[in-house]
Amino acid sequence: MRALLAALLLAAAPAAAQDTTVTVHADRPGPTYDRRIFTQFAEHLGNGIYGGLWVGEKSKIANVRGYRKDVIGALKALGVPVIRWPGGCFADEYHWREGVGPRAKRPVKINTHWGGVTEPNTVGTHEFFDLAEQIGAEAYVAGNVGNGTPQEMAEWVEYMTSPAGTLAEERAKNGRKAPWKVPYFGVGNELWGCGGNMRAEYAADVTRRYATFIKAPAGTRILKIAAGANVDDYKWTETLIREASGQIDALSLHYYTIPGGGWPPRASATDFDEAGWADTLAQAWRIDDLITRHTAVMDKYDPQKRIWLAVDEWGTWFAQDPGTTPGFLRQQNTLRDALVAAIHLNVFAKHADRVKLSAIAQMVNVLQAMVLTDGAKMVLTPTYHVFMMYKPYMDGTVLPIDVKAGWYNKDQFVMPAVSASAVRGKDGVVRVALANMDPNRPNTVSATLAGVTATAATGQVLTADAINARNDFDAGDRVVPRAFTGAQVANGTLTVTLPAKSVVMLELR
Ligand code: AHR
Repeated sequence: MRALLAALLLAAAPAAAQDTTVTVHADRPGPTYDRRIFTQFAEHLGNGIYGGLWVGEKSKIANVRGYRKDVIGALKALGVPVIRWPGGCFADEYHWREGVGPRAKRPVKINTHWGGVTEPNTVGTHEFFDLAEQIGAEAYVAGNVGNGTPQEMAEWVEYMTSPAGTLAEERAKNGRKAPWKVPYFGVGNELWGCGGNMRAEYAADVTRRYATFIKAPAGTRILKIAAGANVDDYKWTETLIREASGQIDALSLHYYTIPGGGWPPRASATDFDEAGWADTLAQAWRIDDLITRHTAVMDKYDPQKRIWLAVDEWGTWFAQDPGTTPGFLRQQNTLRDALVAAIHLNVFAKHADRVKLSAIAQMVNVLQAMVLTDGAKMVLTPTYHVFMMYKPYMDGTVLPIDVKAGWYNKDQFVMPAVSASAVRGKDGVVRVALANMDPNRPNTVSATLAGVTATAATGQVLTADAINARNDFDAGDRVVPRAFTGAQVANGTLTVTLPAKSVVMLELR
């Protein structure tokens, strides 16, 4: 089937397959590119929290109230808008009371999902909000629907947000007088799987029930995000939105880029050839079709698009790096991950009328991480740099863009050669993002700029000498953004020579 599709696509491909024509419609401004699309997911998993963020006040690693300064500084610079915590699968076994009060008295549990290691509960509610405050992010707290009760969930919400009452007094006794803001609350996670193996119909009822008891104090608002579908489970989306739309504000979608034949992840994060490159990028492109179809289902029941689609877990999932602790999902991050990030961030622009929040998995040391640490050392991954390049998209206005690209293919893996998006930033500057899938050939992009009066294009490029180039602790940084000089504007047309295997972010002035 795939081979047939590849043959059909190739037959339809234009002769000058490597060249691309684009029209940017600045004259037809679209929806907001919501800053919450840059949300980060931080789970109690491997060294995602412990070691990666939290080292404790007594650590030799420089820290502020237990959080390492280097990592917090890097994340702050990125402008992370929202942090999703404490899971993932971990959330549906998490009992918040075990993570408040004197740290020495907190129970030590087993992290049954991730490596069977001990979970000291050192990072609990107060520590999480300190993390969010140090980074300058809002909180997206995921509640326990799996093995918790609605009462436990309601009391956690009250503990966090209430200005008065016994739980607020307990919070104050534990060091925090003023209530925190919880703008986003997850009604469980993956209820179809680790969150309870529920059928969609049952999950819809459970969601209605739990969401009923998530109550915001007067004058505040908590957006309730229901545990949505796995990949292409459109029936799940349909059932949840049909049955529970009255109780929720968003429905999530989880989609991981898993090359090498799918689940379980077995492809190496660093040791791959061009087929492994193309397979991964082809899997990443699937996000466009998935969002289109989930959105079509949601449109049936919510044509006004009140309910967000929150793609709150996405990113690459490879076999974990050799020699790392089983269950810790530690994987290196290469130029290939940078392209995966760019594809997603461009696709989210296309669907910005429905996708208001997305969370890459995960923030530190887990899956497609922003930052990797090794003891006191830290590196910024290629994915981090893509996020930094796209940062000016936050809360800008999406500009519709038509892209006529040729095809890039390797073996049975076929995809458009160029991924693109355009956004007018809050600073008024029009930016165009372009990514070239082809690892061997540059691509000439010719873009008509409708409604843009620009005479120059400057920007940055992220590329490297090899498809698996990475930033490593001792080898130095090989994948960092550099000034880009391959773009010109003349007579309302932008011409770009996109290097092979690259991500480019341009500013038109
Ligand atoms: O991100 C790792 C895991 O992937 C999460 O805990 C879970 O929600 C998903 O299956």
